[in-house]
Amino acid sequence: MGDRIAAAWDKLGQHPAPALMELFTDPDRVAKLAGRIELGEGQGGILFDWSKTHLTDSLLGDFEALAEAAGFAKARDKLLTGAVVNPSEGRAAEHTAQRGIGRDTSVEEAFALHHRMRLLVEAIHQGALGEVRHLIHVGIGGSALGPALAVDALGHDLALVDVHVVSNIDGCALERAFAACDPATTLLAVASKTFSTVETMTNAQSVLRWFEQNGVDDPGGRVIALTANPEAAVDWGVDETRILPFPETVGGRYSVWTSIGFPIALAMGWDEFVSMLEGARVVDEHFRDTDGRDNLPLRAAFADLYYARLRDCQTRACFAYDERLALLPAYLQQLEMESNGKRVMTDGQPVTGPTAPITWGGVGTDAQHAVFQLLHQGTHLVPVEFIASIAPGDQLDPMHHRMLLMNCFAQGAALMAGQDSRAPARAYPGDRPTTTILCDDLDAAALGALIAFHEHRTFANAVLMGINPFDQFGVELGKDIAHKIEQGGTRFDASTQALLEAAGLA
Ligand code: F6P
Repeated sequence: MGDRIAAAWDKLGQHPAPALMELFTDPDRVAKLAGRIELGEGQGGILFDWSKTHLTDSLLGDFEALAEAAGFAKARDKLLTGAVVNPSEGRAAEHTAQRGIGRDTSVEEAFALHHRMRLLVEAIHQGALGEVRHLIHVGIGGSALGPALAVDALGHDLALVDVHVVSNIDGCALERAFAACDPATTLLAVASKTFSTVETMTNAQSVLRWFEQNGVDDPGGRVIALTANPEAAVDWGVDETRILPFPETVGGRYSVWTSIGFPIALAMGWDEFVSMLEGARVVDEHFRDTDGRDNLPLRAAFADLYYARLRDCQTRACFAYDERLALLPAYLQQLEMESNGKRVMTDGQPVTGPTAPITWGGVGTDAQHAVFQLLHQGTHLVPVEFIASIAPGDQLDPMHHRMLLMNCFAQGAALMAGQDSRAPARAYPGDRPTTTILCDDLDAAALGALIAFHEHRTFANAVLMGINPFDQFGVELGKDIAHKIEQGGTRFDASTQALLEAAGLA
C-alpha cells in the first residue's frame, strides 16, 4: 500500500463518531448528504440519501483524499475506456460499452450484437419459431440472477412470454419449471458465458430430453444460446442463427446488458430492454463526469468503507420496500461478494483491512416481522439500505403503498433515534445507520440505473481497497474437488470420505 493511501486511512481512523441525531444540528445536513440522479426528460429520477449515516463534511473530505491517493480518477478512466482493469486475467471489463460508454470498437460491437438479438426477439414474437408461450432460461450466477431480477421486477403486467429462470443443478428446480410449461410452446435459452458450466449444461440436456419425451418434433430447434463462447454452442448442436454471442470482456455478474438479457427483451419487448440500457447509461455518464463526493456511487463506497473498515461492520443489509425487487438482495450478493470478497490486493499483497462485507437482505415489510429485531436491539452494527419507489407497482387501494412507504421511513427513523426505557429489554440504543434510495417510479430505466449504480459502487469500493473486482478464482477449488469426486479414485479427508460413503457416492 502506498504511503499516501496509508496516511489517508490513518486520518480517516482518527475521526470522532458523534451520534447520528447530533449530526442534524447542521440544518443543511439533508441537502448536503442527499443527491439525485435524473433519468432524463419526463423520466423521473432516483434520490439517494446518506443523511442518516455517520458521514460528515470532514469525513467526506478525507475519503476524497483517499480516492485521490488510490488513483480513483485514473482507474475509472481505464474502466470506461476499455483498458485492462482485470490484471490477473489480462482483461478489460466492458459492461458499460453495452450501454454506449467505452472504447469505440467495443461500443460498435455491442450495438451490432444487440441488433442481432433484436432481430431474433422480434422474429420469435412474429412466430418464426411457432407459438411461444414459455421460456425456460437455464444459467447460473451472473447468467441467471440479472434476468431473474429484471423479469420479476418488470414483468408484473407486461410479460409477453412466461419466463422460468432455472439455475440449480437440483432437479427439483427444473421439475417446477416443467410443471408450469407446455413443452409444445416452450423455448430453451442456454445462458452461459463459458458454455461449459456443469449445472447449466446438465439442466439444458434435461430440458432437451423433456422436449423429446413430450413429443416435440425438433427439440434442437427450440434452443437459443446466450454465450461468449459461440464455438462451444455450435459444438453442442445449436444452430448459428440462434446463437447470441457477447464479448469475453463482459464479466458474468455484469452481463445482464448483453444477450444474457434475452429473456427480458423476449418477455417485456425490445423497448423495455433498451430502457434498462438507457437508465444504466445515465448513471455511467454521472459516474464518468462527476468528481468527489458528488459522484454518488463513489459516495456510496465512502459509506460502505466507513462501516466496513472503520466501524468493523461485517455485514450490510439491503431491504427493498417493493415486492418487485425481492430478488435484488440475491443479485447484489453476487455482484458485491463475488467482486470484492478478496484477501489480496491487485499487486498480490495481503489486504490491509476487511474487504466486502457480507451482503444480505430481504423485502419490507416482511423483514420487519422476522429479522429487524436484531437490527434494532442486537449487538451487531449493521448499515441498512432501504430501496423504494414513490409510484406504486400495484393497482389496489393506494393505502397499500402508503403503508409500505410509511413503514420504510419509520424504520430508518427508529433505527437512528432509538428510545430509552427503564426496562432494559424495551430500550432501543438507536444511532444505527441507514441509507435510503427512493425511485420516483420503478420502471425499466430506473431498474437499469439502480443496477449500474451498484456496479459502479462495487468498482469504487474495489479501487479504494486496491483490489481487483473482476476475477473470481475463489469459486474454482470447490468445482475441482466436485470433479474429482465425480471421477472417483481420490481419497479425501475422513469427514468428507464418510459423507460420500453415507450417500453412496464413494
Ligand atoms: O462459478 C462462478 C461463475 O463463474 C460466475 O462468475 C458466473 O456468473 C457463473 O459461474 C456462471 O458462469 P457461466 O456464465 O460461464 O456459465
